[in-house]
Amino acid sequence: MTRLAGKTALITGAARGIGLAFAKAYIAEGARVAIADIDITRARASARELGEAAFAVEMDVTRQDSIEAAVAETVEAFGRIDILINNAAIFTAAPIVEIERKDFDAAFAINVAGTLFTLQAVARHMIARGGGGKIINMASQAGRRGEALVAVYCATKAAVISLTQSAGLNLIEHGINVNAIAPGVVEGEHWDGVDAFFAKYENKPLGQKKREVGEAVPYGRMGRAEDLTGMAIFLASDEADYIVAQTYNVDGGQWMS
Ligand SMILES: NC(=O)c1ccc[n+]([C@@H]2O[C@H](COP(=O)([O-])OP(=O)(O)OC[C@H]3O[C@@H](n4cnc5c(N)ncnc54)[C@H](O)[C@@H]3O)[C@@H](O)[C@H]2O)c1
Repeated sequence: MTRLAGKTALITGAARGIGLAFAKAYIAEGARVAIADIDITRARASARELGEAAFAVEMDVTRQDSIEAAVAETVEAFGRIDILINNAAIFTAAPIVEIERKDFDAAFAINVAGTLFTLQAVARHMIARGGGGKIINMASQAGRRGEALVAVYCATKAAVISLTQSAGLNLIEHGINVNAIAPGVVEGEHWDGVDAFFAKYENKPLGQKKREVGEAVPYGRMGRAEDLTGMAIFLASDEADYIVAQTYNVDGGQWMS
């Protein structure tokens, strides 16, 4: 278990959920990880649980000063950043005629601008210190096609796939691989929130949508954060050096591309 031995990673939105599972998996592979999150209390608690190889850093990916401070703090703590996972995101849903501008702005600020400007800040560091690096963006099956009630979130994840392509092509000359992971439906607090949106708009009891989507996954169940860690380790490892600007579906067979 040393595929990331000696490497350092910054993972946004890592206080809980998929980001936290990535942090655990990276540490198990020998990396040190900055648990970056807007929820610093929870990030600290999660970092404590992970032990010495983790530390918590407060970061709001919608604020340029916060991005730069978090990157600087991580570089100061670890000496360098080898891997970035742009994982922080929010979900939102509404029928087209009910979408509110504030929800659109918030989702694009975190999911899209947050991804781009965090990627930019870390890429600047990687270019300045030389030696390349690995950047992984969290996309979604939602970025592969529209959904009647999920226009805004789907559009943010389509933008993440597109940014991954452009950044991947632009940064490979510096030895920086930019790729993305597109999960399907993954259990956790995020999906509890998604379920609540569908309960409201499809008039279903809480928990029903979650059961339905789980049953519809070709693999036979919803994903778990741990189902994604193999791809996150692989894309961060030297074995992925020749992989550029790709988005990989890790979704139990939900989407084929
Ligand atoms: N859970 C799923 O079913 C699913 C499916 C496809 C894609 N994804 C994507 O995977 C990633 C992780 O999902 P998750 O299920 O762990 O989500 P989650 O909601 O459990 O965790 C998101 C984390 O991001 C943090 N965050 C929110 N706003 C932030 C900001 N402005 N700055 C910094 N941190 C902020 C939150 O505090 C939280 O800790 C997201 O990009 C999500 O869109 C999730």
